[in-house]
Amino acid sequence: MSRSPGLIDSHCHLTAPQLANELDAVLDRAQEASISSINVVGYTVEHSQRAIEMARRYDALWATVGVSPHDAKDAPEGFEHSLRTMAVENRDEVVAVGETGLDFFRLISPRETQISAFIKHIELAVQLGLPLVIHCRDAFETTCSLLAEHGASAGVFHCFTGSAREALRAVELGFYVSFSGIVTFSNAQQVRAGAAAVPDNRLLVETDAPFLAPSPMRGKRNEPSFLVYVVEQLAKIRGASRESIARVTAENAHRLFGRTAR
Ligand code: NI
Repeated sequence: MSRSPGLIDSHCHLTAPQLANELDAVLDRAQEASISSINVVGYTVEHSQRAIEMARRYDALWATVGVSPHDAKDAPEGFEHSLRTMAVENRDEVVAVGETGLDFFRLISPRETQISAFIKHIELAVQLGLPLVIHCRDAFETTCSLLAEHGASAGVFHCFTGSAREALRAVELGFYVSFSGIVTFSNAQQVRAGAAAVPDNRLLVETDAPFLAPSPMRGKRNEPSFLVYVVEQLAKIRGASRESIARVTAENAHRLFGRTAR
């Protein structure tokens, strides 16, 4: 995966069995689709460790370590210490802390559990000087207050589904905003308004695979090669070329995650 500059999938769960079981084929198709780097995002302690192992094996893969708000209820006592050790011992692979955040829509973990886990991730990211990868659903105000209160100033609101006003607020707080296949869905007008509002230098793209396959692949298992449909839709919404969306989002991903373009 060396074609330069290439696209960057800023958020993908390659350790999920649906993708991990055919990793080489998935990565071959990503390369054919000009994907140059993929951020492999952990959602439990175990999957964070696997993300690091994948990033060790493949130059094109980066790792993000964290316990997702859905998984927070099952996180072992002291999980934040495990994440810290992983990040400190694998500086070449680990580019961010997450995914973390708050999901008050699904509430798979209780609110208080999500909040307490989120605070631990923020503190870890601030201590290590790493950006945060944030999942936020029906919890925008609480998310912003916690970020400000605990001194977080770098990261990304991933798979953004908020309003244009919220997107600009995230940007004001110093954060990037990443769009997934949802931006291609016919009923996602609000998400498209958000995608039109974000300035060039804060825009990222992602698949969030294996979930949320973009139209026309909607309903299928998602994978990094489908990122091209997200880029195409953003180009349409923003009145830009696909090449310029690819270029600015790759530059932004390299800047946020502290990686130089290869
Ligand atoms: Ni995710």
